[in-house]
Amino acid sequence: MGVSNRVPLIAGNWKMNLDHLQSIAFVQKLAWTLKDANHDFAGAEVAVFPPFTDLRSVQTLISADKLDLVFGAQDVSQFESGAYTGEISGAFLKALDAKYVIIGHSERRTMHAESDEIVAAKSAAAIKHGLVPVICVGETADDLETHGPSAVPVAQLKAALAGISAPTDIVVAYEPVWAIGSGQAATPEQAEQVCAALRGVLAEALGQDVADATRILYGGSVKSGNIAGFMRQPNVDGALVGGASLDVAEFAAISRFQKHVGV
Ligand code: PGA
Repeated sequence: MGVSNRVPLIAGNWKMNLDHLQSIAFVQKLAWTLKDANHDFAGAEVAVFPPFTDLRSVQTLISADKLDLVFGAQDVSQFESGAYTGEISGAFLKALDAKYVIIGHSERRTMHAESDEIVAAKSAAAIKHGLVPVICVGETADDLETHGPSAVPVAQLKAALAGISAPTDIVVAYEPVWAIGSGQAATPEQAEQVCAALRGVLAEALGQDVADATRILYGGSVKSGNIAGFMRQPNVDGALVGGASLDVAEFAAISRFQKHVGV
């Protein structure tokens, strides 16, 4: 696990799953499960990333029931307001008390043609509105073969940070594209190697203090059975969880990794 001042983050990316009614039931059940297990939220933050149409419902539930869970959105517009049909402004997300926003997930890079420039612009927009961007980077299987393990994620992170100069709260998620939804997670050693390189990029771009304080997550086929191995790595500070975040018991077990990390 990372040095003690980095609070681990377990982030559930629901992708295009669960409508607003399902999300209310899910968040209630997750909160009860973690409460029953005496989850230490100060020791491991738990965040959910529902579809846009669920956010208001999730916000209302979390605030009314004073839940310790936090939430974020899966994307944000690089623009502030205006004639951008279908886009969501960071200002709107902030008004809903969203804490985080995922930016540059590989599904958006590939299916929505999001370039490094767009990822940089969206990251800057998130920060401008007081949201914490969860900047996703990761190589495809072809990239891995051609360029080795770190080159593509390192280049993507450098590009994403282009519009950020002042020290600020960001999260980086290393998600090898070949590991997403494939059931074939990276090994903890592979994740550590790339996450360490990404921390080097942060140090170069934003200074050592920011690099030391920034959480770097691993994502790609994370489950309750493999989370401990990742969290034992010094440069892995949490996980971005897709499929396994849609199952309350499984996601709660991942969130409670501290119970099964061992020594
Ligand atoms: P997965 O997805 O956990 O289903 O592999 C991870 C992600 O896409 O963030």
